[in-house]
Amino acid sequence: MTDALHRPPVVSRISDLIGYTPMFELARADNGARLLLKLEMYNPTGSAKIRMARQMVLDAEERGELREGGHIIESTSGNTGLGLAVVAAERGYRFTAVVDHHAAADKLRGMKAMGTELVYVDEDGGEELHTAAREDLAEEMARGKDNTFFTEQHNNPSNAVGYHAVGREIAQALDNRVDVLIGAVGTGGGLCGTGAELKKTVPDLTVVGVEPKGSIAFGPPAHDYYQSGTGTPEGATIGLLVDYDLIDEGVKVGDIEAFATARVVARRTGLLIGGSAGGVVYEALERLPRLAPDAVMVAFINDGGEKYMDTVFNDDWMDARSLVDPAVEAGIDETLTKLRRN
Ligand SMILES: Cc1ncc(COP(=O)(O)O)c(C=O)c1O
Repeated sequence: MTDALHRPPVVSRISDLIGYTPMFELARADNGARLLLKLEMYNPTGSAKIRMARQMVLDAEERGELREGGHIIESTSGNTGLGLAVVAAERGYRFTAVVDHHAAADKLRGMKAMGTELVYVDEDGGEELHTAAREDLAEEMARGKDNTFFTEQHNNPSNAVGYHAVGREIAQALDNRVDVLIGAVGTGGGLCGTGAELKKTVPDLTVVGVEPKGSIAFGPPAHDYYQSGTGTPEGATIGLLVDYDLIDEGVKVGDIEAFATARVVARRTGLLIGGSAGGVVYEALERLPRLAPDAVMVAFINDGGEKYMDTVFNDDWMDARSLVDPAVEAGIDETLTKLRRN
């Protein structure tokens, strides 16, 4: 097995800094069961998604669909776009991101800083998700054009392949002693790519997928939600990479619980996690006391909280959308305080 834990001490491309992300023990139950967070915000761009962005580009090059001077087009809520922006800058491609105003403003500014052209589907500036409209426009922009590649993350197998290294990193770091993998499901690439690789050496692994309440991959009812970058909103097609055979359980977490968890984790530990990761950690903390003695649960943390200072960590924004419930926050605080004392 290649060394999945140590990068060379000096690199000459930012994409060579991808991977080798650390794990953090967030909680431990009375029976010794542990919750470890795989901190994917330690990748360049502060998110896991640069892993698959690079893979999609490398595979397109290998198939000859992208050549020198080519043009990459993607519909993105931000993190995929940031990853593609890095890879495009390094490899000399033009990159156009089709976006909406639901995305975190700083992610869009980051892409622009790296030379990305932004095309908005919602010039009105509202907050609704426009996933379906974004994908239609991206596809239309690439159709029939030579050396122009629509990366189509929802239906691109390279997306999941880009996360195989996460599975290897976890396996190697824990010497295969892992029982549960839990993570957010948007395109499904992160959880299913990691889970598929990890299952090769840990066949009994339980894989738990988490989506926002209102998202449809794990069933109705559909409604709007504020956890950005994750889930499958109404009108969007569930991606090819959501592998229901691999996911043992699919659960839903509401915005209030997800965001409260991110805020409590920040206060109690100093770690800033994003809103979708808050949903994953909420579910993981609920499950931890029910795990077998000394079991290990790894939570895939898609990105850090720095990107959500204007939203999840902004009291005015949260209050204006009725996303704060002090009783929920107090309950999570109590759970985490107890589980960190063990
Ligand atoms: C913040 C955030 N959370 C969760 C997800 C879901 O990950 P995936 O698309 O790999 O299922 C993404 C990416 O889409 C994301 O950017």
